[in-house]
Amino acid sequence: MFPKEFLWGGAVAANQCEGAWNEAGKKESICDHLTAGSINKNRKFTSKILSEVNYPSHEAVEFYHHYKEDIALFAEMGFKVFRLSIAWSRIFPNGDDFLPNEEGLQFYDDVFDECKKYGIEPLVTLSHFEIPYNLVKEYQGFTNRKVVIFFERYAKTVFERYKDKVKYWLTFNEINFGTMPMGNLEVLGILHQEDEEIANPLDNIQVRFQALHNVFLASARAVKVAHEINPDFKVGCMIAHITMYPLTCRPEDLLLQQELDNIINNFCADVQVRGVYPYYIEDYFKKNNIDITFEEDDERILKEGCVDFYSFSYYMSNCITTEEGHETTLGNLLGGVKNPYLQASEWGWQIDPKGLRYTLNKIYDRYKIPLFIVENGLGAVDEIDDNGCINDDYRISYLKSHIVEMNKAIENNVDLFGYTMWSAIDLVSSGTGEMKKRYGFIYIDKDDNGNGTLKRTKKKSFNWYKKVIGTNGNELE
Ligand code: BG6
Repeated sequence: MFPKEFLWGGAVAANQCEGAWNEAGKKESICDHLTAGSINKNRKFTSKILSEVNYPSHEAVEFYHHYKEDIALFAEMGFKVFRLSIAWSRIFPNGDDFLPNEEGLQFYDDVFDECKKYGIEPLVTLSHFEIPYNLVKEYQGFTNRKVVIFFERYAKTVFERYKDKVKYWLTFNEINFGTMPMGNLEVLGILHQEDEEIANPLDNIQVRFQALHNVFLASARAVKVAHEINPDFKVGCMIAHITMYPLTCRPEDLLLQQELDNIINNFCADVQVRGVYPYYIEDYFKKNNIDITFEEDDERILKEGCVDFYSFSYYMSNCITTEEGHETTLGNLLGGVKNPYLQASEWGWQIDPKGLRYTLNKIYDRYKIPLFIVENGLGAVDEIDDNGCINDDYRISYLKSHIVEMNKAIENNVDLFGYTMWSAIDLVSSGTGEMKKRYGFIYIDKDDNGNGTLKRTKKKSFNWYKKVIGTNGNELE
């Protein structure tokens, strides 16, 4: 049984839905420099905005101009919570500005007021792959400790402004992306060369982990300030949980799985939940010649900035082995070896509802703090049939099977207090920059070439989810 106050809802990120990339004082974020791609074509970062190139974030699905209509649809589904991110460059267009942009602040006031009208609780991510471009260009992102101060200024500004409108906050989306080369740009704001493919960047592991240390500091300082501004605020970490299994029962596979699980899934959360670097990271740092500079106050800052809850995204799982030659598969941020017992989505992400239960049990056992699933969903091609309907039974089946496992975890006494399905509405895919890879309950008329009316249409899953929320997860058919 789901608890009575369980927070059901959906999630989006500013850069993937808002559009209006240069309106009302907003300046470019890193996403505004990312080209469209596909499963076979990596997205590219171009340092200049080129007129002949398609940058999907520029218009996205125009949530900026449609937010009233969209939030009304969320309310019709019965959302208790709506997860969204604030575009940092709407508030501080250059990142290092001294004063915030009032028009940007007003926009989110309007959005939160609209949520309040329907009794929907906002859950707000401060940094969802949306660092202001100027901070990348002038400071090399979080490699520079000044950016920690700029982030704190931004966090403080929005905490003060929305202290009576927002209670739940997340600092950095999928912060553990920073443990992988691919996370250089989106989490850390590092770009070693102009015009590179974000999936395949130049990497300097020492620089990357030092920047990640600075992101930990930025997060911890924000948590501390949040609690000073409003002691009722609840601030969470946000981890992309890449659940991994040893492919075989060879002890070598299990040990490799444990090592990767520690670096990729556990390391960032250990720091953010416990406020100290875990013991196993020393060995990893030694093997990779990583030497983190800890300034005098850093230990104290980390300790004072522990998060109140653990949130995570969960889409798929993969396998790990020391053996060569096994078939591989794609995944969220990270692929792996194919699991012979699982089916995959059209984008090659292996569907694994039981893996979600395993993950909930594992995380709760490790931290014993409240958990929130802030992303889970199926990216698929949706078609409108002759009657104007979108019969996304595959999405219903994906979500249903995951909700069943969430319920079992709760019965096993895991303290899970919310679920925001990705994504509330169709939006631009983050990994590939496509519209074709759709996740929403609400279809948006727009294709990969930018054509379409942006008209919103309810999919079959819309009414299904409405019933799920209406029965507090009791009726899933
Ligand atoms: C997560 C991100 O990695 O996965 C989202 O937080 C993203 O921004 C989601 O959209 C799904 O990934 P993709 O690449 O299919 O959009």
